[in-house]
Amino acid sequence: MDWGLENRLARIIRKDGRTVMLAVDHGYFLGPTSGLEVAGKTIEPLLPHADSLMLTRGVLRTSVAPDTDIPIILRVSGGNSILDKELSNEEITVGIEEAIRLNVSAMALSIYVGGEYEHQTLINLSKLVDEGEKYGIPVLAVTAVGKEMARDTKYLGLCCRIAAELGAHFVKTYYCEEFEKVVESCPVPIVIAGGKKIPEKDALQLAYNAIQRGAVGVDMGRNIFQSKNPVAMIQAVRAVVHKNKSVEEAYELCL
Ligand code: 5RP
Repeated sequence: MDWGLENRLARIIRKDGRTVMLAVDHGYFLGPTSGLEVAGKTIEPLLPHADSLMLTRGVLRTSVAPDTDIPIILRVSGGNSILDKELSNEEITVGIEEAIRLNVSAMALSIYVGGEYEHQTLINLSKLVDEGEKYGIPVLAVTAVGKEMARDTKYLGLCCRIAAELGAHFVKTYYCEEFEKVVESCPVPIVIAGGKKIPEKDALQLAYNAIQRGAVGVDMGRNIFQSKNPVAMIQAVRAVVHKNKSVEEAYELCL
């Protein structure tokens, strides 16, 4: 790896080897997702508590002040809406020059292993890694899971390993039973998605379990911005990720 790429990655995964990434990219296929209807309003109070921000270029340009000092993880795949029957038909939606202009710290792209367009999304990843490596921009592979697929150790292990083999610099996936096996067989760092909104304590437990089993952090969206108190929730997540607090201790911060 080169210095620029390492430097960008180090801005995301902090000195303690952990990270709290705030995911607000949902609109790229879901439109005005609950809690993100006015993205800027949701994002602004959370910025001081996030290690990085994952979003699309549209929301970045319109809803984040250019003097904001936070590493940006730019979503660069898409091409579908929630109305499409087949969500796996994604292409790369942002060129590398645009990513450089936007001064991003990483680019994120979904892969759909086992999906109808598996091949296309894996080639998208490989091409993005080539482009990213030319300019020192790391790539986050997001292992998207089709509705009919089980989020189990075998499947997620397969997705994460393929992502790493194709050159992803870090991977976002879902938590599962025996998560340590997924981590063990993936040679690059893993962060977990929060998934659908669940009670705060359960989301903290999810983050706690993932960290205990080897994740470097979370890339969490709905369980933060759909919480009754998003700022308290992200602080509680930070306590688990960066301060090794127990679920009980972190949950106190939400009350
Ligand atoms: C979809 C995504 C999301 O848009 C988002 O980042 C997921 O975050 P969360 O599940 O925590 O709301 O990556 O594949």
